Amino acid sequence: MRTYLVTGGAGFIGSNYVLQLLQKDAEVLVLNVDKLTYAGNLENLRAIEGDKRHVFVQADICDPVRIAELFASYDIDYVVNFAAESHVDRSISDPQIFTQTNVLGTVNLLQCAREAWQVVGSAASADDRYRPGVRYLQVSTDEVYGSLGPEGFFTEQTPLDPHSPYAASKAAADLFVKAFGDTYRLPVNITRCSNNYGPFQFPEKLIPLMLNNALHHQALPVYGDGMQVRDWLYVEDHCKAIDLVLEGGVPGEVYNIGGHNERTNIQIVKGILSYVGEKVDRSVDERLIEHVTDRKGHDRRYGIDPTKIGEALGWRPQTAFEDGIVRTIQWYLDNQDWVAGVTSGAYRDYYKRMYGAR
Ligand code: NAD
Ligand code: DAU
Repeated sequence: MRTYLVTGGAGFIGSNYVLQLLQKDAEVLVLNVDKLTYAGNLENLRAIEGDKRHVFVQADICDPVRIAELFASYDIDYVVNFAAESHVDRSISDPQIFTQTNVLGTVNLLQCAREAWQVVGSAASADDRYRPGVRYLQVSTDEVYGSLGPEGFFTEQTPLDPHSPYAASKAAADLFVKAFGDTYRLPVNITRCSNNYGPFQFPEKLIPLMLNNALHHQALPVYGDGMQVRDWLYVEDHCKAIDLVLEGGVPGEVYNIGGHNERTNIQIVKGILSYVGEKVDRSVDERLIEHVTDRKGHDRRYGIDPTKIGEALGWRPQTAFEDGIVRTIQWYLDNQDWVAGVTSGAYRDYYKRMYGAR
């Protein structure tokens, strides 16, 4: 049986990952460590309530004592670090928490993993040695590469050139992961994925925000001219890629993840409006679009070259954008209680109801 320490498993991608893992693998134990910031929501994990293979721990990845205790209490094989402050706009108004969680939190996890996994006695020798089969995987982002012009794609060799405080914090974390691999030979991987979409995404991000506003007849705030390009990937495809890297990735290697699915923001927004106008409410149309002040330092285009992960590990995205976006919109329509809970903040009561007595 494998034991996973998954951090940020109550957030968007982390909760999708935990649900997928438990569905796929009967013989697994998942320690889900999440601080439950505004972005963490235990309702995302309702489907696995009571499942003994899932242990939820409310903790901060920056806390050396709590994280070391977990390593001491369980034989952890894999660490998958999703926990992060993830929203670019928030990083522009409040960069410090991004440094705290994304950089220092990552270093704390690396250090705890290193200490727990090291084979006793090896620290004195030139070669650090670790328990066989262990792996630390850092979930990173294409934003560390900066912005593309109209041509070309990000490869694993593209130099790091982050622009936003969020991207800078993720790039700094990546460099620490690399340093622990290079210096201590800790078996690490970094995955750099493009924009995800799918169920449980917090409605501060483009797709759920625009959908929610359209459903409530509120203006859809498009930054600048809306011609910025993002490369969209259905969240389940990202989660599958992470598993392939954990199982078969070469230690020390970086893997880009993306499915050649570039769209301008305005295309996405118009697509959502047209779906809602057709299927939900005929009064909804493009008159709701409002071009607002652009994001500071806004990256113009992202586009991933996924050749390496395709050739090395056989990964291919399985969900076409046209299907994934309909599934996603339909999920939000079917889960309006979840959206209402998140937008009103009521989801925070869920933890108190479930765990308040502990
Ligand atoms: P999210 O904001 O939805 O979730 C982040 C989770 O981390 C939340 O549950 C939050 O409570 C938790 N968290 C925050 N600070 C913590 C701390 N100090 N200790 C423990 N838990 C903490 O984010 P997401 O969109 O699911 O992104 C997950 C990861 O994937 C991030 O590392 C992000 O950089 C990366 N990523 C995201 C995308 C995307 O499109 N969303 C794409 C590529 C990479
Ligand atoms: O590329 C991967 C990254 O994708 C992840 O690392 C981040 O964690 C994730 O948040 C996402 O970052 P973006 O900044 O690309 O996502 P966001 O949904 O915030 O914005 C997508 C695009 O839409 C971006 O060009 C800004 C624009 N936008 C966004 C919002 C919220 C708008 O025009 N209006 C908006 O209201």
